[in-house]
Amino acid sequence: MSRILITGGSSYLGQHLVPLAAAAHTVHYTYHQNQPDLPAPSSPLDVCDETAVRTLISSFQPDVIIHLAGSNRGHDMAAVIRLGAGSIVWAAQEVGARLIHLSTDSIFAGDAAPYDETAVPTPVNAYGRAKADAEAIVRQHPNSVIVRTSLIYGLHAMDHGTQWMADALAQGQPVTLFSNQIRNPVWVNSLCTAVLELAENSCTGILNVAGRQALSRADFALRMLDYWQIQPRTTLTVAPSDGRWPLNCELDLRRAAAVLSTPLPGVDEVLSGNGYGRSA
Ligand SMILES: NC(=O)c1ccc[n+]([C@@H]2O[C@H](COP(=O)([O-])OP(=O)(O)OC[C@H]3O[C@@H](n4cnc5c(N)ncnc54)[C@H](OP(=O)(O)O)[C@@H]3O)[C@@H](O)[C@H]2O)c1
Repeated sequence: MSRILITGGSSYLGQHLVPLAAAAHTVHYTYHQNQPDLPAPSSPLDVCDETAVRTLISSFQPDVIIHLAGSNRGHDMAAVIRLGAGSIVWAAQEVGARLIHLSTDSIFAGDAAPYDETAVPTPVNAYGRAKADAEAIVRQHPNSVIVRTSLIYGLHAMDHGTQWMADALAQGQPVTLFSNQIRNPVWVNSLCTAVLELAENSCTGILNVAGRQALSRADFALRMLDYWQIQPRTTLTVAPSDGRWPLNCELDLRRAAAVLSTPLPGVDEVLSGNGYGRSA
């Protein structure tokens, strides 16, 4: 049993990770503005406040810090990602904690897939640039793992992207699904299990952790709309994107297969059951 501090416990990923982690470890999680009801003690924390981060971490003395805070949402997202990575890394070094940092396939331009762990970030937007900078900061901590993942979805709570589509369609607003953006959507349960496996093994450096099925954002979105039975879809169109967002960010998962015992099923495997999603 380890002492695990999870930042961003209120995130979509955190709300799945905290209960799983708390079942096997001593967990403390943080939130910023939205306090969820999860089975572990929590504290409000602004990860940009270096003093607050150091105070919390030196008082909890974690063996492992899992840094989730800092997604592509919020007006101050780039600052939260960069400053948060800095303050978490310094505090982790101070207490000698292992660090698991969540990164993204959006650090790539999408013109040189598939990307393995040696691929150098080529970000094309503010989120990708901030997450690439955060990776560079985290790499200064020798006992760290940078988890590069992809679109996160679950079967019990709707993911952010599907929720956005559902709201827009319900209001009759146009929704365009991009047919030429390739991703490896990851089932939140397998991502959480993989992150907790990494908390306890000795893997360091960068690790791609995503679903093993690469598919277009349009194909993924349509599967989610079917799963959540979202209708009507009269304002929905499928079309290629104009390249403002990365196109093909397919991740090479061979290192994950060698390092992890956690399976990383693709979307169709999860949706069909087969020991995963619906039957789990
Ligand atoms: N979702 C995806 O598809 C996806 C894909 C690839 C990588 N990732 C990565 O996975 C991680 C989790 O993503 P997510 O989508 O689950 O996140 P999310 O639901 O968008 O939540 C963002 C989290 O950041 C916290 N936060 C915002 N500003 C903060 C601040 N100043 N100080 C401390 N915490 C702050 C929020 O806290 P409050 O809500 O309490 O304010 C919340 O817990 C992120 O690192 C993201 O980059 C996500």
